[in-house]
Amino acid sequence: MNTVLEVKDVNMFYGSGDNKIVAVDSASLAVKRHELLLIMGPSGSGKTTLLSIMGCILYPNSGQVIIKGQVVIGSNQATGNPDRILPHIRKGNFGFVFQSFNLFPFLNAAENVEFVLRIKGHNRGKIRQEALGLLKKVGLENRAGAYPSDLSGGQKQRVAFARALAGDPPIILADEPTASLDSKTGLEVLGLLKLLAEEYGKAIVIVSHDPKAKAFAHRVVYIEDGRIRS
Ligand SMILES: Nc1ncnc2c1ncn2[C@@H]1O[C@H](COP(=O)(O)OP(=O)(O)O)[C@@H](O)[C@H]1O
Ligand SMILES: [Mg+2]
Repeated sequence: MNTVLEVKDVNMFYGSGDNKIVAVDSASLAVKRHELLLIMGPSGSGKTTLLSIMGCILYPNSGQVIIKGQVVIGSNQATGNPDRILPHIRKGNFGFVFQSFNLFPFLNAAENVEFVLRIKGHNRGKIRQEALGLLKKVGLENRAGAYPSDLSGGQKQRVAFARALAGDPPIILADEPTASLDSKTGLEVLGLLKLLAEEYGKAIVIVSHDPKAKAFAHRVVYIEDGRIRS
């Protein structure tokens, strides 16, 4: 059983009454170690909402989220304040990558990675070494001292990947990771994500409406109006 992350019958709506929007409608999905799963769909189809539920950023209205066989959201026991529960579940399980890189402009590449290692409670004496090791994994060891303003889009996204790998989480979730990149750089970044799945055994979920991403995915699912079809 190599399934790392699973959602079952997840529903999410925003607003109420006449303004109610069903963002995710009875979605079920699973992703395994070594697998790059691509979720495609038009703008507004529920991709970001679904990914946020999978990553325990958003608490669904109903349904289950299961990590390594354990129901972390949606079990009868799992009650309490979601704002308290969700960070606890995220810790150690997920690395996140966003379209906009989200790097700190006043920290260099290595420091951006170190910042996350520090938050994750890693030994202060070792974080510089660890950060350099992570930058090496994404092919950026020679740009460790560069600030985001001096990095290309692809390099910035690589720093974001290095950061997502901090703490060695089994699952990486990426929302439109190529949307801010030119097409050649987008291909490089997709190649790197595939490598992280295949070589490092990560379970990776990418959300994208970039057709180039298809060639890198082990599996593609489509979402439309919040509903998944394979
Ligand atoms: N915080 C929010 N409040 C209200 N509606 C939202 C919110 N986030 C998303 N939506 C709506 O939910 C639907 C799905 O959005 P989203 O998950 O962002 O889709 P996608 O990522 O595929 O573009 C859209 O109709 C969007 O307008
Ligand atoms: Mg989105």
